[in-house]
Amino acid sequence: MTKVIVVNGPNLGRLGVRQPDVYGRQDLEELRRLCTEWGKEFGLDVEVRQTDDEAEMVQWMHRAADEKTPVVMNPAAFTHYSYALADAAHMVGDAGLPLMEVHISNPSARDEFRKRSVISPVATGTITGLGFFGYRLAIEAIAHLVNA
Ligand code: DQA
Repeated sequence: MTKVIVVNGPNLGRLGVRQPDVYGRQDLEELRRLCTEWGKEFGLDVEVRQTDDEAEMVQWMHRAADEKTPVVMNPAAFTHYSYALADAAHMVGDAGLPLMEVHISNPSARDEFRKRSVISPVATGTITGLGFFGYRLAIEAIAHLVNA
């Protein structure tokens, strides 16, 4: 079974308590459960991770490129300024792997600083504003792309 990593950036470990009006009331454990289930549905072995550490997220991308693991990424605030993560995401694409960018909210409809993503230009596709359902679509997109 193809392995897929679903990586989540800073503050997403606080899902459920952090701005529930924006991010909903379900927590990271629920996201983990759902993504794993959706993965099975689409024939993928999904592993959900979260970190507040930019270096760790960059290293996860290096390993994904080396081990040929497709990526679903919610870069959280790194979206808006981390060129290091953008460069690392670029390497995943260079390795011929899909990388789907997901945002729970629609960052374009929020603060000015959220309107720019440095990850989108190097992502295979971007899904925003659909809550946790966006992860399901991203996992389905990965299944479609790896089977194409
Ligand atoms: C987010 C949007 C980002 O702007 C924000 O910094 C996050 C979460 C989202 O999922 O909607 O932490 O990526």
